Amino acid sequence: MRISIIVAMDKNNLIGASNQIPWHIPGELKKFREITMGKPIIMGRKTHESIGKPLDGRVNIVLSKNEEISFEGVQCFTNLEDVFSSLKSEKEVFIIGGSQIYEITLPIANRLYITLINREYLGDTWFPKIDFSEWKITEKNKVMEMTTQTEYSNIVYDRANE
Ligand SMILES: NC(=O)c1ccc[n+]([C@@H]2O[C@H](COP(=O)([O-])OP(=O)(O)OC[C@H]3O[C@@H](n4cnc5c(N)ncnc54)[C@H](OP(=O)(O)O)[C@@H]3O)[C@@H](O)[C@H]2O)c1
Repeated sequence: MRISIIVAMDKNNLIGASNQIPWHIPGELKKFREITMGKPIIMGRKTHESIGKPLDGRVNIVLSKNEEISFEGVQCFTNLEDVFSSLKSEKEVFIIGGSQIYEITLPIANRLYITLINREYLGDTWFPKIDFSEWKITEKNKVMEMTTQTEYSNIVYDRANE
């Protein structure tokens, strides 16, 4: 099973502000949907609450330490091991955040889909530090979104040793 992390961050690794995404870039949301469609998506409880509903066309998995918690249309788990055992037959699963869940999955991820926004925003949640010596770029596209005048790059990294 390939474990893929997907994240959008600014120049300073910022990913969140007050439990929301600090920007609204329609092209970026569309790309996220295309890449993850049909694949299981794994997220932290706070990210699920921030989205506010299950994302369609994908098995939604939410991590929480609270055994009592349940949300409509999602599967809740209290630990990652149980998540991965339940997904054993999948070819690729997506970790979609937030910071706490990226932190525990970055060491075991095989692929990173990073949208790097060429701007600086204000916020309170960051992606963990990446050791780029462990990763090689396998795809990179620069995008200029005209509606919001935002420049960003879509970069795919695979583990350097795989
Ligand atoms: N830019 C992006 O691409 C992107 C993507 C996703 C999210 N975000 C942003 O990131 C922010 C949220 O990130 P966050 O780090 O605060 O929260 P989070 O990672 O979404 O969720 C944290 C919660 O996950 C549960 N959890 C964490 N570690 C766990 C473990 N080992 N086992 C079981 N459950 C565990 C806990 O839930 P309980 O407290 O219920 O136990 C914890 O409170 C928001 O601002 C969101 O908009 C940005």
